[in-house]
Amino acid sequence: MGAGEGGRTSQRYFAAHLLRTSAFASLGAAGFLTHAATSAMRMTTPAGPTIAQPTPAALADAGYRALLEALAAYRQDGRRVAAGDYAFSVGHGELATPAAARFMFEATQTLRRRRAAEPGNQWTDGWLSTHSSEVYEISTESLFVGRQDAMQRLVLPPLMDQLANVAGRGASDVQQDQHSSPRVLELACGTGRLGTFVRDNLPYAEYHAVDLSPFYFERARSNHRAWEKLRGAKLARGAAGAHFYHDSIERVPDELARVLGDDGRWFVACRKVYCVYTFHELPMKAREAAVRTMFQALKPGGVAVFVDRIQLDDREPLDRSIGRFGDFNEPHYRGYISTDLGALFERAGFACVEKEMNSSSKRLSFMKPT
Ligand SMILES: C[S@@+](CC[C@H](N)C(=O)[O-])C[C@H]1O[C@@H](n2cnc3c(N)ncnc32)[C@H](O)[C@@H]1O
Repeated sequence: MGAGEGGRTSQRYFAAHLLRTSAFASLGAAGFLTHAATSAMRMTTPAGPTIAQPTPAALADAGYRALLEALAAYRQDGRRVAAGDYAFSVGHGELATPAAARFMFEATQTLRRRRAAEPGNQWTDGWLSTHSSEVYEISTESLFVGRQDAMQRLVLPPLMDQLANVAGRGASDVQQDQHSSPRVLELACGTGRLGTFVRDNLPYAEYHAVDLSPFYFERARSNHRAWEKLRGAKLARGAAGAHFYHDSIERVPDELARVLGDDGRWFVACRKVYCVYTFHELPMKAREAAVRTMFQALKPGGVAVFVDRIQLDDREPLDRSIGRFGDFNEPHYRGYISTDLGALFERAGFACVEKEMNSSSKRLSFMKPT
């Protein structure tokens, strides 16, 4: 990408992201104020012991730090976009008005549950309702004042083979991927939003996705259908399409196993597998099983990409505070932040390749030995 074009891309990037952050910061503040107002009117006061409400000064401090985190995340992600390493796109539509209205209800419920220290998932109904799948994107982006997309794009460089040399793969492997349809598998695809970013960047990929929640699964299908409509003309020229499996990431779904084929020892046809923002939700046994699935589904030389929240020691000044996310009814989060992920993947047979962080997220990539 030339300097002029890079500059224009950078301007578009920052204009879009500053608007994004203004919108999500306003929504987050409106959600918090609605919760404070309804609590004051004693409409939602929880019974039993409660977690203390933050003071206005503490809230202002948290808001200020969240905005700085967003700017730093955009600087890192925006440089990659301007350099042409990967593309970002707008128009995926999580800010639609009905979703914003549902978010206001969701915000008051989430904050009420947090205050009452109730066990369970951060979202109403966990992963098990249409409502939850409809408010997920807008709720997480309000929590991160708009920077979640930028952090999730951490997954892209290894999927696009930009780490080919680091991963020990030769130029011919990379070319083969670019001229064929690399098979990519996403574990726990959620609403499918990130999958559409991946397909924006690998439009010829044969994309496969697994999720256990029927509601998120349906949402992912409809997000991908909308994306295919949006990109229709480009896709018509030989894209391999998307395939969805309603199953657990703790095993390779039977239907997918048939697609992948089996050489008697393992499945042979998947080049890349990735899993984003899910391990912090899982107990240790499920994490181990998910890593085994990644290993089984990959062909030798294939790359597994992991993106999730940072852990203890990743950003030492935050060590004292990162555990607090567990207060948002995330029962496995505190176990996650002290899990040795490198050792977990090595035990399954992977070789560690590299690590990159962006704000409160990080990527680790691993290779299945040839
Ligand atoms: C925090 S969301 C992340 C979704 C997506 N990866 C993203 O980054 O937006 C977690 C997802 O994991 C799914 N999930 C949780 N446990 C699972 C399991 N054992 N097998 C398959 N999916 C699971 C949930 O249904 C939900 O869609």
